[in-house]
This record gives sequence, C-alpha cells and structure tokens, in this order.
Amino acid sequence: MVMNIIRTVQEMQEFSDSMRRQGRRLALVPTMGFLHEGHLSLIRIGKEHGDVVIVSIFVNPTQFGPGEDFEQYPRSFQRDEELVASAGGDCIFTPAAREMYPPGYQTTVSVAHITKNLCGITRPHHFQGVATVVAKLFNCTRPHCAVFGEKDFQQLMVIKRMVQDCNFGIEIIPGPIVREPDGLAMSSRNTYLTPEQRRSALSLSRSLFTAQEMFAGGQRDAGRLIQQAREMITAEQQTRIDYIKVCAVDTLEDVTTITGDAVMALAVYVGKTRLIDNVVLSAA
Ligand code: PAJ
Repeated sequence: MVMNIIRTVQEMQEFSDSMRRQGRRLALVPTMGFLHEGHLSLIRIGKEHGDVVIVSIFVNPTQFGPGEDFEQYPRSFQRDEELVASAGGDCIFTPAAREMYPPGYQTTVSVAHITKNLCGITRPHHFQGVATVVAKLFNCTRPHCAVFGEKDFQQLMVIKRMVQDCNFGIEIIPGPIVREPDGLAMSSRNTYLTPEQRRSALSLSRSLFTAQEMFAGGQRDAGRLIQQAREMITAEQQTRIDYIKVCAVDTLEDVTTITGDAVMALAVYVGKTRLIDNVVLSAA
C-alpha cells in the first residue's frame, strides 16, 4: 500500500470506513511526532495486530500546561514520514490544531481517580488533554486496536480506563519501554539535553534498575526503594526530583509495603527538561 498522508478528519474517517468495509483490521499508534525507536516499536506491534497501521502525528496543545514546552516541542515531519514508512506504517493522520479544535470547541473527557497521583500532581490538566485528544483520535480513525507505550505508564492506564468506561470497544495494546543501549528511556525530549545533562539523566534508569534488583533480593519496603533512587539521582548535576513513587499497578495508588504487582515511577527535571521513567516490580 502506498502510504497515505491525511490532514482532515473527514478524509480520515472516509479512509478508515473504506478499509473497514474491505474487512481490514485497523491499528492506531497515536504520537506527537519527532519519532524515535520507541514509537517505531509500537508501529511494528501495530502491524502484528492489524492489517492497516495508522500513525497519528499531532502535537496536542491541550495536554501542555502554561509554561511547558508546547512551542519548543521538536517537530520534523519529513523525517517522521520516512520513519513511519520504514517501520511499515500505512497511513499518517496529521491534522492542524484548528482541525482538531475549531472555534467553538468546548468538550473534554476527564478520567477521575487514576489521573490524580504521579504526573497528575504537578500537571493537573495534562491527562484531561490526553484523554480528550485520544478520544477524538479514536473517533477520527475508528481503529479496532491501538498501541500505547509503557514508558507513559499512567497514560496507558488512563486510556485503558477511558476505553472501558466509555465503551469504545477498542483493544488497547501495551508496548514495552525502548531504551538507549546505556539504559536511558527513549524520548523526543531527550534532544533537549546537553551532553552533561544526558549523563545525569542516566541516573533515572540506573536507580530504577537498582530498585528492581533490591526487589528481586526480597526488599518489599517501598520507602527503601525510593530512598536509594532519591540518593542516586540527587547525587547528579542539574537534577530536581518531581516525584519518585511506588504504586499498585491497577489503581496507581501509593503503596508502602509491596504485596502485589507494583510500578515504581519517577519524574525528574534534568536542567529544564522533565523526564519520566518506570519499572514494574512483579513477584511473579
Ligand atoms: P508521544 O510522547 O509522542 O508518545 C507516543 C507513544 O509512544 C506513547 O504511547 C508513548 O508511551 C510511546 N513511547 C514514547 N517513548 C517510548 C519508549 N521509549 N518506549 C516505548 N514507547 C514509547 O504520548 C504521547 O505522545 C501523547 O500523549 C499522545 C498519546 C499521542 C496524545 O497526544
């Protein structure tokens, strides 16, 4: 299939409807572009689950708070187009902001409890922006399934909740975190880092891997795991911790003693760049 580039909602819905009429299974991979291997891994997962993979590229203004990096967010459509094609994507949906939010727009989707902890503490409107745009992207592309990375663990859980609560009938498929060879989780925001900050940023994944080893060694006290991570990260230049938490994987509520599956998640500013990462702590 020649790769389609679609910019309007109507054309996107017509494309998806025609594919559906032909009996094709559609997989959506929502992104904000400036693609890296993490995104491409999701496209490949999408290909395993669908016949037609639609990649959306839309830097969604409503999920950025005041003073965040919406304007600076890196964009490079031509490179993204080549990368989507190389990973086997069939279609790119890349609407303009006014196509998604025309004058008079006033509807939002908000998911209640699971958005409150972790990133919701310092980014109180972020997940409403995410849930709203993803609901819209679902209605624009009408997929059978959609792939989301575990890198944004809370986002994945919020989308799962929304799909279940609103009866979207779309299968949500998680994709594992793709890391640089030295452990740093891939992110479009890594391009903001200076070489020194890039070195400091390695403490995020290192501290999470250390926590995983401690957990494998029998440590079940969340406070201990958090404390070692805090020490490892604050020892590095230009780091400022937003949060380090251990939460139950299903509710994302804090746990003090780990009894079931948990996720250790953190958000850390390195210079002005806010990075997130996580590991699942599972006894099974
Ligand atoms: P973005 O940050 O571009 O990420 C798009 C998808 O790629 C998300 O599902 C994210 O979890 C996944 N991803 C990013 N880095 C990854 C990595 N290192 N390994 C595996 N997956 C990774 O997340 C968003 O965009 C937006 O919030 C969006 C869902 C598109 C809504 O605007």
